Amino acid sequence: MALRPIKRYGEAVLHRPAAPVEALTPEIDALIDDMIDTMYAAPGIGLAAPQIGIDLRIFVTDVSSGRNPDDLVVMINPELVVADGMQNHEEGCLSLPGFEALVPRPERTVVRGLDRTGRPHEVEGTGLTARAFEHELDHVEGRLFVDRLRGLRRESIIRRVKKLRRSGKW
Ligand code: NI
Repeated sequence: MALRPIKRYGEAVLHRPAAPVEALTPEIDALIDDMIDTMYAAPGIGLAAPQIGIDLRIFVTDVSSGRNPDDLVVMINPELVVADGMQNHEEGCLSLPGFEALVPRPERTVVRGLDRTGRPHEVEGTGLTARAFEHELDHVEGRLFVDRLRGLRRESIIRRVKKLRRSGKW
């Protein structure tokens, strides 16, 4: 087990689609353990492999932050199969620490992928879980929540990040 440093907005691995997982090796299994530990330690309710610099389509979520073991979801090669309704709430991201924005998301999502034993599974989420699923699916596609914002709301976050970067605080 190891905690991995979390990449921040601006690092190339966060801004391109990740590659599919071809085989579930012991290395992938260890990577998933590290992702779960890193998510809980952050603390966060979701983490995608590109966020720790790994160019693979894997995410983990736990909207209970470790309180309810049933809430831990591991998705390998995830696909969004259902997106219903709409919600609009403040959202953040471990790769954009200190920033939040209102991001519209589906109220209900169903995600299909492989679990960590390689078996296909489908998980349905509503509310915060639905939001977390779409947020993490975005990460494996190389999108961050700011990429779903428009105009000034998007520009102001990007401008502030660039400023932090120039001053070496990012
Ligand atoms: Ni995120």
